[in-house]
Amino acid sequence: MSIASISSASPGHTDLRRVDINPDYWYPIAWSKDVKRGKTVGRRFGKHPIALVRPEEGSVFALEDRCAHRQVPLSLGKVSGEAVQCCYHGWAYGRSGRCIDVPYLGKGKLPNGVKTYPCREVGGMIFIFPGDAEKAETTPLPKLAQVSNPAFKTRLFSPQVKCHYTFLHENLMDMNHQFLHRRQMGQIRARFLGQDEGENFIEARYSFARTGNQQPLAERLIFGKHHDDPTREQPVEEVVSIRTTYPYQTLQIHDKDGDLIMDLFSVYVPNSADGKSTQTFGLLSVLRPQTPFLIDLIWPALGVFTNRIFEEDRQIMELEQKAWNELGGDHNVEVFPIVKKLRALLVRNGVPPEGVPEAVEKNEEQERPRIVV
Ligand code: FES
Ligand SMILES: [Fe+2]
Repeated sequence: MSIASISSASPGHTDLRRVDINPDYWYPIAWSKDVKRGKTVGRRFGKHPIALVRPEEGSVFALEDRCAHRQVPLSLGKVSGEAVQCCYHGWAYGRSGRCIDVPYLGKGKLPNGVKTYPCREVGGMIFIFPGDAEKAETTPLPKLAQVSNPAFKTRLFSPQVKCHYTFLHENLMDMNHQFLHRRQMGQIRARFLGQDEGENFIEARYSFARTGNQQPLAERLIFGKHHDDPTREQPVEEVVSIRTTYPYQTLQIHDKDGDLIMDLFSVYVPNSADGKSTQTFGLLSVLRPQTPFLIDLIWPALGVFTNRIFEEDRQIMELEQKAWNELGGDHNVEVFPIVKKLRALLVRNGVPPEGVPEAVEKNEEQERPRIVV
């Protein structure tokens, strides 16, 4: 009997790390500022290479990033007018994906073109719809934090993490991991307040109690001087609500009066063919304080603070992925009901691996991995 003989997943359970993200949603694939007028940019949505093209005039469009001729990336091509020309032999494609010119061929003999993806630009992000294009029209774009609300200042962030997208959903939803951030945030403990759930969403609410150390400066400037008296029973006034509404995730903080003071929106977009790399697109909106300009003063400190915290999360999620790679499957023992429900939601709404029946963890008690003799 050896570690290799432990079954890779309990019977009746789908290994979440093999569940592909459901392509029938709108996903951000680039920040608007990164796709300049008259330029192309190459991105990926999982197995799909995508060329984003911002023509000389008109809106950005998305094509399969493979020339129909010899599969060279179109994102290496040249924008001319409203089309993109492949860098190799100069075949040209318009926004419909049709090949509209082969420089050395007559117009009557043009070959087929390439696949296109529905594409929209909103809130400083370029979204594509990678799945069934007919569903794009009726599928709404997500609400993007407070990006268009002048009462808030919004920070964009897009770290890449070398792990399956589902680890990111779990990381944010499971606030019991504040121990990891003790050097950045001091000693705080999450208190679970309650939950809501439905077919495609789950929300967990927490408050935080400081159990030691000083409140970090960036946190104090934004939220005021809180959580710094460990002798109080309920020292925290804010409620933190984390919600996965498939496939998006939000974190909102309301103050003691119920007013929204922070609003985070994030999407985790697989950006490698093996599903083990994920690009986050995040918008962090912070309510502007009463004192004008204070937000601009503290903004760099907030950036450093959140980057440090995310860096700790990134390292830990990559270690989770490493363990999965070495064990060939998901063997972790989860005890927190919210995370179990989140996993079930991600399986239910995702694309199960081929040959494995779609199964949902319904029981509160998760089976331990079985030892196969
Ligand atoms: S490979 Fe693109 S034009 Fe030949
Ligand atoms: Fe974290």
